[in-house]
Amino acid sequence: MTKYVIQGGKSLHGQVEISGAKNAAVAILPAALLVDGTCRIENIPQISDVTLILKILQDLGADVRTVNRNTVDIDCSHIRNAPVSYEFARKIRASYYLIGALLGRFGFAEVPPPGGCNLGGRPIDQHIKGFVAMGADVDVSGGFIHATAANGRMQGAQVYLDMVSVGATMNIMLAAALAEGLTIIENAAKEPHIVDLANFLNSMGADIMGAGTDIIKIRGVQRLGGGTYSIIPDQIEAGTYMACVASAGGEVVIQNVIPKHLDCITAKLLEMGVEVEEQDDAVLVRSHGSLQRTNVKTQPYPGFPTDMQPQIAAALCVAEGTSVITEGVWDNRYKYVDELRRMGAQIQVDGKVAVIEGVEHLTGAPVSACDLRAGAALIIAGLGAEGCTEIDSVQHIERGYEDIVRKLSALGADIRVVITPDDLRQSQAV
Ligand code: EPU
Repeated sequence: MTKYVIQGGKSLHGQVEISGAKNAAVAILPAALLVDGTCRIENIPQISDVTLILKILQDLGADVRTVNRNTVDIDCSHIRNAPVSYEFARKIRASYYLIGALLGRFGFAEVPPPGGCNLGGRPIDQHIKGFVAMGADVDVSGGFIHATAANGRMQGAQVYLDMVSVGATMNIMLAAALAEGLTIIENAAKEPHIVDLANFLNSMGADIMGAGTDIIKIRGVQRLGGGTYSIIPDQIEAGTYMACVASAGGEVVIQNVIPKHLDCITAKLLEMGVEVEEQDDAVLVRSHGSLQRTNVKTQPYPGFPTDMQPQIAAALCVAEGTSVITEGVWDNRYKYVDELRRMGAQIQVDGKVAVIEGVEHLTGAPVSACDLRAGAALIIAGLGAEGCTEIDSVQHIERGYEDIVRKLSALGADIRVVITPDDLRQSQAV
């Protein structure tokens, strides 16, 4: 098993470059299925979720050419309308975007139910509600979601989402881009990656207005042509490095960010006594290691992101006073708490609320990354802790953070990857 081993207590200094946004990339890559011609997509993060989506596209017959580390050319002119591979799709949440994209392209999709982090129930009823409103027949049988558009083409429709859903908003946009007529999504999500997907599709010839507000209008077009598009920087990766500095102390310039996207995170760090200075496309974060308590409630954008909840909780474990965290999006996003307790954190969880009594310091321990952001939280805790923290199950972390060990090492963290003999034997066998 591969582990990250962190010797805590080293402050962070220097500059770190933020990669492209995972949750934008995992929707924009499937969106290439709708494009007639080659699209060049830049600033793609090198993470395992992206690798899997690219494998799925190739498996469907897409021509995927690597231009450089973070840029690919994708030509989906010759893709087959085939079932999406169970082997790949079950490993990622974002495989659900293939339903919208394939429905848009062929009027037919066969996709296994999505996998991804276990955060409690993760229904996709709102996605399906949208597809059905647009004339598709959807059923689940034989381990696949089967969706078929009447007359082979999706029809524009008005869809009111019963809750703000990032996935449903983007999936309906995908299904609507080539549909006949106008689709209106009401109570749409407003996350930066929603705007990024709309910008990608518009740059290929789609007609989408209102992304970033709660009403999005998509007028279906006959064809999307090729082009070049660069994915926005990852808000959550940037926020994670901000929390690393809060926990470890030091001064770091976090580069290639859109500071506006970080406002909700910056506001909480300022309340905790961390200094944050906005620059054009960077934020400077400075922390002397002594943190103040605060309360955090996660909400859809522009609220505090649920995907930063475990990371801010890890930093608050050593803040002076009592902090209260309320999870407003997922049913079960406190699985990491047991691991932080092993490091000496004082946290009580009651349903969606966690109460954190700040302690003077955490102590390194062997811990396990139960999901992506939980793993990030353990890194943050380990950087500020006394002694050595060993994190296992790091494959969850590698789903969403490009080169995290290299980036933190360059900032002065004492973090290294340890590969066990079993792992080595397996990789040599491949
Ligand atoms: N919901 C429903 N029905 C639906 C869809 C959602 O009840 O049909 C509920 C969910 O159960 C949840 C809430 O609505 O309580 C919001 O879910 P949403 O659809 O917004 O989440 P998602 O699209 O499945 C994406 C990100 C998550 C991130 C959430 C919220 C991707 C691949 N995943 O998930 O990212 O937490 O939006 O911002 O984009 C992560 O990156 O660590 C991660 C989990």
